[in-house]
Amino acid sequence: MKNKKYTVTAALPYANGPIHIGHLAGVYLPADVFVRYLRRKNKDVIFICGSDEHGVPITIQAKKENTTPKKIVNKYHSMIKNCFTNFGIHFDNYSRTSTEIHHKISTSFFNKLWKKGKIFSKTSEQYYDNKARQFLPDRYIFGRCPHCQNKEAYGDQCENCGTSLSPEELIGARSTISGSYPILKKTKHWYLPLNEYQNFLEKWILTHHKKDWKINVYGQAKSWLNKGLQPRAITRDLNWGVPVIPTPPSEKEKKVLYVWFEAPIGYISSTIEWAKRKKIDWKPYWKDKNTKLIQFIGKDNIVFHCIIFPVILKAYNGGYILPDQVRANEFLNLENEKISTSRNWAVWVHEYLEDFPNQQDTLRYILISNMPDKKDNNFNWKDFQRKNNNELVSILGNFVNRSITLIQKYNNGIIPNPGILSIKDKEILKKIKKTPENISDLIESYRFREALICFMDLARIGNKYLTKEEPWKMKDPQTNKRLKTILYVSLQIVGMLAQLAEPFLPKTSKKLLEMLRLKSYFWNQIENVEEILCPGHLLGKSILLFNKITNENVKKQLQKLEKIKKI
Ligand code: 2FM
Ligand code: ZN
Repeated sequence: MKNKKYTVTAALPYANGPIHIGHLAGVYLPADVFVRYLRRKNKDVIFICGSDEHGVPITIQAKKENTTPKKIVNKYHSMIKNCFTNFGIHFDNYSRTSTEIHHKISTSFFNKLWKKGKIFSKTSEQYYDNKARQFLPDRYIFGRCPHCQNKEAYGDQCENCGTSLSPEELIGARSTISGSYPILKKTKHWYLPLNEYQNFLEKWILTHHKKDWKINVYGQAKSWLNKGLQPRAITRDLNWGVPVIPTPPSEKEKKVLYVWFEAPIGYISSTIEWAKRKKIDWKPYWKDKNTKLIQFIGKDNIVFHCIIFPVILKAYNGGYILPDQVRANEFLNLENEKISTSRNWAVWVHEYLEDFPNQQDTLRYILISNMPDKKDNNFNWKDFQRKNNNELVSILGNFVNRSITLIQKYNNGIIPNPGILSIKDKEILKKIKKTPENISDLIESYRFREALICFMDLARIGNKYLTKEEPWKMKDPQTNKRLKTILYVSLQIVGMLAQLAEPFLPKTSKKLLEMLRLKSYFWNQIENVEEILCPGHLLGKSILLFNKITNENVKKQLQKLEKIKKI
């Protein structure tokens, strides 16, 4: 069979602020682990993302910072991009929606849909701020949520109960710009008739994805379908966004595409940008039936990826594939409180990288082991310290360090020939051989936390083995055959750890491979390799893998949070 392609996308973050650990644990880290794994399996995979630079979140932030939307997106786009790079989230392409190519592609989608009669226009009355002299879509309007009574729900969503709203559902709606009560004013907009796709979506989601989509994703999509789909406006009266071209001359206000119409098309334009750079054809990644499209998103993005984007693709009728998987996690809390950008209650990735340079893998480890995949989970600094010191340092780091030191001391850093293998030795060698398959199965079913546990179990086994065998107590170390066997077995574990660490702890994996003077295998090959490190192989120098997190480190972080609480 033809080697299947994978197009993996991660939600385009709004370029209206920096990213925090909630973003990493919810979207980018699971996606990165998954893609790194596919790369290690030698799959044809692309990992696509970029900054979402339009929509009301950007213009509101510009107002807050007393600057222009353009300056805001430039500032945060580079900040976010650097964070991803420095943290080790490795996209094949990280684009932005202000690019010419994105404007061109998203406009061509709109224009074709309009020409083919797949969208319609309608004039209706919408909220308008007379003071600010502008319409008030989405987050420009707030009021009481009809579902949970939260007084500050936005015109597109209530952040308290997560319900998607439209401005007219808000009770006592007011303008976020001036605080005044809006008037109603007529305006023309273009609509995507989602209702016409009800059957198609039901068949696709309710029949085909009932079993293989996560319950949170499937459940939300189903609940939208159960309510019955309504046409949805795909343009806005704003002057920030992708302009609707040609703007009908009769329209006084500037129209732009609704951000949730064009941002998902950003996955396609980012792929095209990548393909142009690589001088290859992008279409197989979006139009080949054998290609799997896998989308990692935040849980507040579910409807857009499961309902709206598929309808856009279907209506466009350009041979695009639909997502095979849409993965969304629950939320990560910080010190048992909801992460909040507005309250500054977050661990910002750029600040983490400043405070803990070279400790990216520690945060990756903690966030994977606390990943909120089934329910909300919590990050706290004490747990961060405990897991780093008791697991990464004391188990993984310690085992590797002991093994390398011993072999350097007793066998000049050369892998020895083993003697007769004990039952335990054989058991361990069998376990080593089985681990890649076990981890593969877990990652392929998106069980990243368990996959990490499976990886660490190998280090645990190694640690226990050395502690039990006590090779350092053996007599005549230079000639002792049992000692050589123990060294051989231990190093096979270290070798496998070096290979398998990559999706979870890429920097550590690199250090390990360097220490062992080992090349990185594709995972399909490791399953067939009899010995990861052959007798006679000379190891390199020992490198420190993990540093301890001190009480001082933790105190500093907790004090930072305390200060925020007092504000
Ligand atoms: O929620 C967000 O941060 C959005 N900017 C995600 C967009 S995903 C995609 F459609 F572009
Ligand atoms: Zn609500």
